[in-house]
Parts: sequence; structure tokens; C-alpha cells
Amino acid sequence: MENNRAQWSSKIGFILAAAGSAVGLGNIWKFPGRAYEGGGGTFLVIYLAVVILLGIPLMMTELSIGRASQANIVGAFSKLGHKKCEWIGWIGVVGAFVITCYYSHVGGWVLRYVFGYLTDAPAIFADSTGYFYNMLGYHGDGTTSLPWVAMGFAAAFMAINAIVIIRGVESGVEKFNKVGMPALFLLLLILLVRAVTLPGSREGLRYMVTMDWGRVSFQTVLSALGQAFYSLSIGMAILITYGSYLSKKENIVKSTVIICLMDTLVAFLAGFIIVPAVFATVGRDQVGKGGGFAFVSLAKVFEQMPGSRVFGVLFYLLLLFAALTSCVSLIEGIVAFLTERFGWQRKGATIGVCVVMFLIGCLYTCTQAALPLKGIWVDAVGGVTYPAFCDFMEFFTDRLMIPLCALGCCIFAGWIWKPESVIAEITCEGVGFGWAGVYRVLIRYVAPLAILTILVMSFGAGVTLS
Ligand code: PFF
Repeated sequence: MENNRAQWSSKIGFILAAAGSAVGLGNIWKFPGRAYEGGGGTFLVIYLAVVILLGIPLMMTELSIGRASQANIVGAFSKLGHKKCEWIGWIGVVGAFVITCYYSHVGGWVLRYVFGYLTDAPAIFADSTGYFYNMLGYHGDGTTSLPWVAMGFAAAFMAINAIVIIRGVESGVEKFNKVGMPALFLLLLILLVRAVTLPGSREGLRYMVTMDWGRVSFQTVLSALGQAFYSLSIGMAILITYGSYLSKKENIVKSTVIICLMDTLVAFLAGFIIVPAVFATVGRDQVGKGGGFAFVSLAKVFEQMPGSRVFGVLFYLLLLFAALTSCVSLIEGIVAFLTERFGWQRKGATIGVCVVMFLIGCLYTCTQAALPLKGIWVDAVGGVTYPAFCDFMEFFTDRLMIPLCALGCCIFAGWIWKPESVIAEITCEGVGFGWAGVYRVLIRYVAPLAILTILVMSFGAGVTLS
């Protein structure tokens, strides 16, 4: 099976696909709010340090594991290590599965807003909070109903993903990213020009370049760590799958640096769009406020911009491309596993898994407001708690599965498969790697310790990552 394994048709195709996986809702939706809370410029510096120290080595590791094993997320660990190591891949599959359940639904809401701004912008502007909650089944008079519209759009979003995946790695995933990623950059630049030329945006811009080390706490660093992992798509083993389609000729170090640069650039640009725009329109205290920030507060921002409707459509199109290219990578990782491990047909596996994830995701959308279903959570500070099911899904992936899988990858690469094997994979075909010594220390000691700290702090001290 491995011999006729799919391959990226070009270097740029691979880079855009991996960057497409990384650049997602995390960059545009979550990053600006976190950067604001973390002190603006100071957060940017900390974030950059985390990307360089942990993001780059971990991404390189995942890609190398994938390319060396030529296998899916789970198979890679038994092939290069031992059957016992497969748990790392299983955590990745389960985590990716749960993320896709809700990610696809938020993608559906974004699609709803693209149409909303095209056809019904005055209604959004008239009552942005009401419009958002109405979509989720919570009506102004206090009554609730099942959010059929939001679920319908989520189904459409999932269908687009399924079509891309069924078409295959080269003619589906790669081609889609080759169009989607440049489109995303173009939209980002248009919005950047709009945001920084708004009267009153200066103050926001200044905030984003000001260093205020007095505001930095341990929480700031943890927030940057969690954000960087999520944003770079590491710790879900998804990049193992993308690495397994990579030719031996490609330079993994160079590609990793480019992908991380692109992802960080998009996050920073999103910060430089949203923070100044919010400062200039609805006021600084609104940045990143509430779960519906991208839908509720931003509507007020667009409303006050000349050309509000056009920029609203462009912004949600941008979010849509970002969400699609990330969701595609999550599903590809799961489908590659199912087809290789169980011999399922690609088409059947894709349709089956997408339908199941969509249905579970309905619980995410429904428990936003319409259904009172609870999950269960436990940590040393709060004890046993019963968060809304939608929050539970995010806690489960962000606080547990991503750090656990990332820790597993570090232990695997640092102590079982060994840094020498990663370095050998990176330097095969004569590629130079001058940082091998630094890499060894980072992957063996620094990265696992940092990730362990995330786990201990979030379960033991109640310091949250999300
Ligand atoms: N990196 C994506 C984002 O920033 O939205 C989300 C994501 C995609 C996380 C794929 C994990 C993953 F494996």
C-alpha cells in the first residue's frame, strides 16, 4: 500500500497545504483577542519566541515522522517505534475527530454570515447579538428552538470538505489550497489597508507594538503556548499525514520555517486588523469579548466602516477559506488512517466519518443555547464541574488531547525513535541541518517540560489555556 502512496505534486503545493492547515479560525478569530489580553506587543514577542523554540522543532518532528514512516498517524508510531507507541497516534485521531466535530460547525456559522452579509446586512447591524443568538436557536423573547439554519450551513460546510477530500490528495487537497491560500492573503491585505486607515485606529496600532512587561504573567506565557500549538496544527499528529505525502527531496527545515512564518504572519496581520479596527469603532474594551466575538462585536465594527457590507462579506470569506483549509487537513488525517488501517474505500470513509462528525457537531451548535446538555470536567481547583457540552468539547481537545499528543510526540522523537533518527530523516539527500545540537536539547528536554507544565497548570492550578 505504501508504494503507491499519494504525493504532493509540488513543493509549493505541500507548503500551501500545510500552511492552509495551520492558518485557520485560530489565527483570525482567537489570536487577536489573546494578543490584546496578553498586552499587545509583549504578547507578540512571547508568541514569536514560543513559535521559534517549540513550534518549529515540533512541526519538523511531525513532518519527519510522517515522511520516514510513510504511514498514517497511528501506523507511523508502530512502524518507527513499537506497537505500544500507537497510543500517541490514537490520541491524535480522537482529538482531530472531536475538533472537526465543532470546527466544522463554526465553519458553518461563518458560511451563514457570508450569506448574511450578502443578503441581510441591515438586520445584522440592527441587532448583532440577537442575530447571532437567533441563529443558534435562542430568541429575544427567551424562547429557544433547534438551530436548524446553523446546522444546515454546517452540513453545507462539511459537504465542501468531503468533496475536496474525496477528490484525493493531489487533485483535491493540494489544488484547493493553491487557490484558497492566495485568496486568503489577498483578502487579508485588503482588510489591513481598511483597518489601519480608519480614523482612530492609531491607538490600537500603538497598543500592538507597545512593550509592557509589567502585564506579563505565567498565564500570558501559557496562553501563548496553547495558542501556538493550536495555531500551527501541532500536537494533533495531523502534520504526520501531510509529511507522509512529502518527497525525500524536499527540505523539511526550510519548509517548516516557511509554514511557521506564514502562520505567524497571518495571526499578526489579523491582530493588526482587528485590534485597531475595534479600537477605532466600538472601543478597546470590546476586543475578544465573549464567544461570539467574531460574529457579534465585529458586526458593530463593520457597521461603522464606510463600505460596511463589502468588508463584512470579505472578512467572512477570509474566515471561510481559513476554516476550510484547516478542516480539510483534520479530515485528511482521519481518512488516511481509516483507509490504511481498516482498508476502507476513501469515498466511503470520507462520507461516513463526515456524517458522524457533523451529527456529533450538532450537539456543539445545539448546546450553545438551545439544549441544556452538560459535559463533565474535573481539575484540582474546581473539582468536578459540569460545563455546557459545547465548552466540554473544547476543554477536552485544547486542555487534554492536544498537550497529551504533543507530549507523546516529543517523548517518541526524543527518547524512543531518537533525535538522531529525526536528524537523519531531515538530512537525507544531503540537506544540511546546522541546528541539530539545539534541536536535540529542545525536543528531549525543553519541549516536554513546557508541555508538562501546561498540563499540570491547567489541571492542578486551574490556569486555563482557552
Ligand atoms: N490550526 C488550525 C487553526 O489555527 O484554526 C486548527 C487546527 C487544524 C488544529 C488542524 C489542529 C489541527 F490538527
